[in-house]
Amino acid sequence: MKTPRFKICLCGILSALLVIFSGWISYSEQSGVIETYKNATAPFDDEKNVDSVLTLTDKTVLVKERYPGGHFWTETRKEKIERFKCSQCHDNKNVTIVRAAEMAHGNITLNHGGQIKPLSCFTCHNKDERDFLVTEAGETVDMDHSYQMCGQCHFRQKKDWVGGAHGKRLSYWAGKRVVKNCASCHDPHSPLFEKRWPKTYSPPY
Ligand code: HEC
Ligand code: HEC
Ligand code: HEC
Ligand code: HEC
Repeated sequence: MKTPRFKICLCGILSALLVIFSGWISYSEQSGVIETYKNATAPFDDEKNVDSVLTLTDKTVLVKERYPGGHFWTETRKEKIERFKCSQCHDNKNVTIVRAAEMAHGNITLNHGGQIKPLSCFTCHNKDERDFLVTEAGETVDMDHSYQMCGQCHFRQKKDWVGGAHGKRLSYWAGKRVVKNCASCHDPHSPLFEKRWPKTYSPPY
């Protein structure tokens, strides 16, 4: 008689403990979620910003554009441009060598704008300050912000890019929105992608 009652009693205590314990776990999980949510809903305050779980290998800059969702960032470009800084050579001294441009930049073929309206080097590059790009209105544009220069003509693609419908997002949804820059994907000198065959044919079934 004594043993079964003792067993029932023990079972009762254990299950009660289990209920309390699981309740505590779900409570603490919930408060964790609430905490994360609180942080995540304030992404525009740099101090409280939630860092992405994904660590980005590239440096980023704050995009100088406004959109309803607040701020976003893009990849920097300058450290990836092989010939940067341009002012190493372009120091505004006279170059007397014939065909110097071809020798220096003969590897660049410009195929942008079509035959009717071909672009020239100085449509985009600042003549006097070669480290910078230029707008039609003569404003200097930092090479990390080349989307400003491209967006003068491709305003529709830029609008889509700002909204997140063109391009590629690099970081998680919570925290900083980081996207690829125009020149991360498009070669500004020859921006159209080549037509390609798929890597494999579809199987015949
Ligand atoms: C190793 C030296 C060197 C570097 C670095 C360099 N350039 Fe040049 N570049 C030249 C020379 C030399 C010329 C021809 C003389 C001139 O126009 O000043 C030239 C010409 C140009 C021209 C005019 C081309 C033409 O057909 O008239 C542009 C535009 C240009 N460079 C852009 C750049 C940009 C942008 C950078 C940096 C990303 C850069 N260069 C870096 C040496 C250089
Ligand atoms: C449509 C605008 C545009 C035109 C036209 C253009 N460029 Fe550029 N160029 C750029 C941008 C933007 C970059 C920076 C690319 C990046 O972020 O990687 C660049 C980069 C360069 C670089 C550095 C490339 C490297 O990787 O070292 C050189 C040199 C250069 N341009 C020279 C020229 C010359 C010479 C011409 C004319 C024949 C020319 N560009 C025409 C927009 C343009
Ligand atoms: C001064 C105006 C101007 C600027 C600045 C400019 N583009 Fe273009 N771009 C053009 C024109 C014009 C075309 C040809 C459009 C066509 O043929 O339909 C073109 C074509 C293109 C195309 C191919 C589209 C197609 O259907 O042929 C891409 C991609 C592109 N540009 C990207 C860029 C990027 C990226 C930049 C900045 C690095 C840039 N453009 C800067 C005028 C510009
Ligand atoms: C993640 C890569 C990526 C980024 C970043 C990107 N593009 Fe594109 N873009 C593409 C692809 C892919 C296409 C489609 C190309 C095709 O159909 O051949 C395209 C097409 C285009 C076209 C041709 C017209 C069209 O809509 O099909 C233009 C112009 C253009 N992009 C401009 C821009 C500009 C300006 C930016 C920056 C504000 C930009 N792109 C950023 C990948 C990118």
